[in-house]
Parts: sequence; C-alpha cells; structure tokens
Amino acid sequence: MSFAEEASTRGDHDKEFGLAEAAPGWSREQCHDPRIMAILGWMTPVELGFVSWFMREVYSGAGEAVELGCAFGRSTAATLLGMTANQKAAEKKLHVYDLMTFDWYLLQEYRKRPGCEDSGYELGDSFEDCFWVNVEPWRDRVHLCAGDIASCGWSGEPIEYLFVDIMKSWEATRGVIRGFFPFLIPGVSCVVHQDYKHPYSPQIILTMYRLRDYFEPLYTVTGGISSTVAFRCKQKLDRELVDAALSDGLCDLSSYSIGEIDSAFTYSMALVGDDPSEEQDLLKAARVVVYINLLADRPDFLRAASTIPSTHEFVRDRFRDFVEAGDQGAALPPVENGRHSRLFSRAKSRVRRLVRW
Ligand SMILES: C[S@@+](CC[C@H](N)C(=O)[O-])C[C@H]1O[C@@H](n2cnc3c(N)ncnc32)[C@H](O)[C@@H]1O
Repeated sequence: MSFAEEASTRGDHDKEFGLAEAAPGWSREQCHDPRIMAILGWMTPVELGFVSWFMREVYSGAGEAVELGCAFGRSTAATLLGMTANQKAAEKKLHVYDLMTFDWYLLQEYRKRPGCEDSGYELGDSFEDCFWVNVEPWRDRVHLCAGDIASCGWSGEPIEYLFVDIMKSWEATRGVIRGFFPFLIPGVSCVVHQDYKHPYSPQIILTMYRLRDYFEPLYTVTGGISSTVAFRCKQKLDRELVDAALSDGLCDLSSYSIGEIDSAFTYSMALVGDDPSEEQDLLKAARVVVYINLLADRPDFLRAASTIPSTHEFVRDRFRDFVEAGDQGAALPPVENGRHSRLFSRAKSRVRRLVRW
C-alpha cells in the first residue's frame, strides 16, 4: 500500500482531533517592541509574542533554530528577542532562509512605506541590506542563507525549532518537507506554521493532514487575526519516508481525493474550534481556494486575491463567477482523465454548498 493510500485509510473514524494536552502553557503575551513593530512585515503582535515566548521559555538548545521566510526581518527580530533572553540558547545562532529578492508584492508593500516610494529598488533586486539594518541589534546571532528554498540545503544537524513562513507554493512546500523535516527530533522539535490558517496556503493543511501521524498540534495562536499553528514532531520522518510520501503525491494537489480534502479540513477546523470566528473563517476560505484550484488552473488567482481586503467576500464572489462560468461550459481546465473529471463534478456541487455557507 502506498504512503498516500495508507494515510487516507488510517484513523479518521475514531479520533477526536485536538491540541496536545501536555504542551507548556503559552502566556499569550504580545510583542509590541518598537524596534520590531517598525520593521515591514505581516506578523501580528500576538504571533510575534508567540515566537518570542517560545524561544525564551520553551527552546532547550537540543537542536538548531531555523527560520524559513524572514522577508525584512520582523519575525527574525522577534525570535531573536526571545532567543537572546534564554541561557540555553546562548551558543546558538538562528539559521534564516529567504530568497531575499523583491517580488512584485514585496516591492509594492515596500514602496507604500513613507519615504520609500522612490527608494530605487526594482523587481528582482536584493533586499538583504534592509534585512541586516533591521536585525542589527542581533546581527552576530544570525546565519543567513539567501536563495530558493527548493534548492537550499541544510547542514544535517538536528533541528529543534522550525519556523515556516515560506510554503507559498507546492514547490516551496516540497523544498521545506524534503530539506528540513528529516532533521526534526521526535518528541522535541516544534514546527511553527505561520500560514496554517491562511486561505492562500491550503497546501499546508493538506500536507500536515497526510503527515498527521508524525506531528501533533500544540498551539493555535489566536488574537488579532493570527494564522499560526504550531506542531510537535512525534515520529521520525527519515529521508526515505519523506521521499516515498513525495513520490505518492504529498505535494501534488491532484493526488488528494475530495474525501481526503474534506477530512483534512475537518481536522484543521477541529484544531481551531476555540479560535475566534474570523480565524475559523480563514480556514473556510482556504477550503474554497482548494476547490477553485481543483476546478480550474488559474495562476492569476492568488495574485489577484492577495490585493483584496475582504477574503471572505472576495472568495464567495469569485466562486459564484466560477460556478456560473462552469455552467456555461467555460473556464474549466482540460480534463486529463476520468478521475479528474469525477473530481471536478463532485467539487462543483460542494462549491455550490460552500458559496451558500
Ligand atoms: C510573508 S514573507 C515572510 C514574512 C516574515 N516572516 C515577517 O515576519 O515579516 C514570505 C517570504 O518568503 C520568501 N519566499 C517565498 N518563496 C520562497 C522560496 N521559494 N524560497 C525562498 N524564499 C521564499 C519571500 O522572499 C518572502 O520574504
């Protein structure tokens, strides 16, 4: 039986999904440090407070601390604030990974900052200089690896803390899982998914569901609309196992049946059961995005969606358009085989239900 088949038949009927009970109590502190809040970034005070608290109070130094996706250094600074207050981390550096080049979105956000409209940066330029200015107080504790996560390597040291704000595509998701997950320490390591509840990163929900025997959910960070969920590694994911899971389509949406997708969202909704309703809505929107991706290949969708302030209404409107277009025989992608064809028609009826939620 393949990894995917085994994962989809296992354990869904009798499990009450929820957060692990034995996790250290999170203080729910918020980080409003002016040095950190002044850095361009998207993490909220409660999310910054969480990484800072975790590195100060929970990180034991048993493995390395790694941050995937730092942008201009807001999450980096909050992590280092906690790390430098923790004696057990005194010998450790934070290993930080990012492309470090302006894409259209980062450039647009950067140019919105007062005084940055005519900074001279263009698409594709490096923003590494901005990053170093922003993390200057902790510079000697940072080890930066600039490049695409799909090809960046890891030294092979055990990893205790893995912060992930980089799984923006299936390729990046594959790069993170293959490059870093085999070095997690069972029973110790924590993976902090900054985008778990984010509607435009449903690949995190799907892959973490298929890998659910290897991770237990620890915290769902709430307050001020947070999309962070943290997991503890509970079983070793060695390279052979990861490669088998990848060959079985772990990072390929077409390998997920509608049933598995539904189960993945049931699992994720159970984790956020006590979160504020806006944060639960993020996950509902993520589910809609998965259905859109199943129904049509629209590479412009994520880009367009990220500029719309109201995710919820936007997704709903977009769905209505989509279903109507589909009804008229337009906008459906080429049907590759019978399986896809069945998926499309089943997905469509579910979409109709979601639109009316
Ligand atoms: C949302 S930003 C990170 C924000 C940051 N954590 C903060 O607190 O402000 C996502 C980052 O992921 C990086 N990124 C996206 N895809 C990547 C890839 N394939 N390889 C390396 N970095 C990538 C981008 O360059 C960007 O800086």
